[in-house]
Amino acid sequence: MLYIGIDLGTSSVKLLLMDSSGQIQNTVTRDYPLEFPQPGWSQQNPDDWRRAVLAGVPELLRDFDASQVAGIGCGGQMHGLVVLDKDDRVIRPAILWNDGRTAEQVDYLNNEIGKEQLSAWTANIAFAGFTAPKLLWLREKEPENFARISKIMLPKDYVNYVLTGVHSCDYSDASGMLLLDVQHKCWSKEMLSICGISEGQMPHLFESYECIGTVKPEIAKLLGIPETVRVCAGAGDNAAAAVGTGVVGAGGCNISLGTSGTVFISSEKFGVDRNNALHAFAHADGGYHLMGCMLCAASCNKWLMEDIFKTTDYTAEQAPITPEKLGENHVYFLPYLMGERSPINDTNARGTFIGMTMDTARSDLTQAVLEGVAFAIRDSVEVARSLGIEINSSKICGGGARSTLWKTIMANVLNIELQCLESEQGPGMGGAMLAMVACGEYGSVKAACDRIVRVASTVKPDPKLAAKYEKRYQQFKKIYPACKELFAGLAKE
Ligand code: XUL
Repeated sequence: MLYIGIDLGTSSVKLLLMDSSGQIQNTVTRDYPLEFPQPGWSQQNPDDWRRAVLAGVPELLRDFDASQVAGIGCGGQMHGLVVLDKDDRVIRPAILWNDGRTAEQVDYLNNEIGKEQLSAWTANIAFAGFTAPKLLWLREKEPENFARISKIMLPKDYVNYVLTGVHSCDYSDASGMLLLDVQHKCWSKEMLSICGISEGQMPHLFESYECIGTVKPEIAKLLGIPETVRVCAGAGDNAAAAVGTGVVGAGGCNISLGTSGTVFISSEKFGVDRNNALHAFAHADGGYHLMGCMLCAASCNKWLMEDIFKTTDYTAEQAPITPEKLGENHVYFLPYLMGERSPINDTNARGTFIGMTMDTARSDLTQAVLEGVAFAIRDSVEVARSLGIEINSSKICGGGARSTLWKTIMANVLNIELQCLESEQGPGMGGAMLAMVACGEYGSVKAACDRIVRVASTVKPDPKLAAKYEKRYQQFKKIYPACKELFAGLAKE
């Protein structure tokens, strides 16, 4: 049988076709626009996702026997607010995970409702990208749109709705709304009431590997697939990526270097970071996870390469960064181009180069960006370590994981071994694997991981280089606190 995995990302949707043994048979990518209508705002049109998926699937299946497709599973960008009216039409562009417009609403939730109370209800506190503050923003700034809301969904749930006509959400993605009682896996009545939303406006909740329904007949016809194709609830992209890299059950770690950068620690048991710097979410395997999320990871590198240096030849730009340059760079970069989530939770933070001199070369800036992202990932790893979680190795996935240089920097900054998979397409792989479980191909998510996920290579830290990076990290740690007040002042301009 064949399974389609959908990775509904921020700049594109990546579709993959997997056979029963877990081999990827084909991939297709379709880009769509991302709007930044004001500094720090980030929106996307759900219709673009619909079009990209519906056009991408026939292309994916062109040279394959489409009658063999049994299931579809989606891992999607998290937290985005999609609102539908009574006829299931999209009311306004989706407000995405990296949107920072809700600083005021976050402040209200964290300081007036109170972090302790929020954490007791939902296991989390408010961050600008989360869905609940966006609902408060919509109620205040666009009351006519708010009044029209019949259903609230997350991005991948809109795709699942297009495919099946079912309003669903899985626990991993729902965790990032700040509307779910994560521990008990049900909507939080208190949070719904604070946001002025009824339970009827929320989608039905499922485990990620459960089937939400089959494709609608007209969709089956359009895509050329059988009407019996089962669609699973899917997962937030990080939980799906963790499935795709085999990070399920107790104590595994996955680092994703995509548009965002995440550190994902899986756990069988529910647990909360006492300072709420890490998110406490449900996992796609039925368990839980802690996660640190930085808003700009590979996107910092993309920004420097494409927007500033006007090149797409990343390899050529990284070529001058030879091994003896590692750990020697005096230029530092704060990767806060969209503000930052974990662990500093500061929408005012900004991207910053510091330490340049007359001999600073273009490649030092490239290196500073790669290192700055690694240092910021380490910030989240340090929070996990402070909770007593041991991280000695991690899987790594996402576009940034294609760069050997970046993985070397990352392994040495974190001083851990990184395990690279045969495919870095975590969320799409995870989506297809969840669909396999929903179709009965495997009895559990763990069984699918044991059979399918293969480590292809490892990157080990070098003690001398790790020691150099330790010193650099101690310097990096001082830069944000020194700029924090300045950033707040700049934001008022
Ligand atoms: C996770 C997060 C991002 C998006 C990226 O909390 O906001 O990783 O899911 O797609």
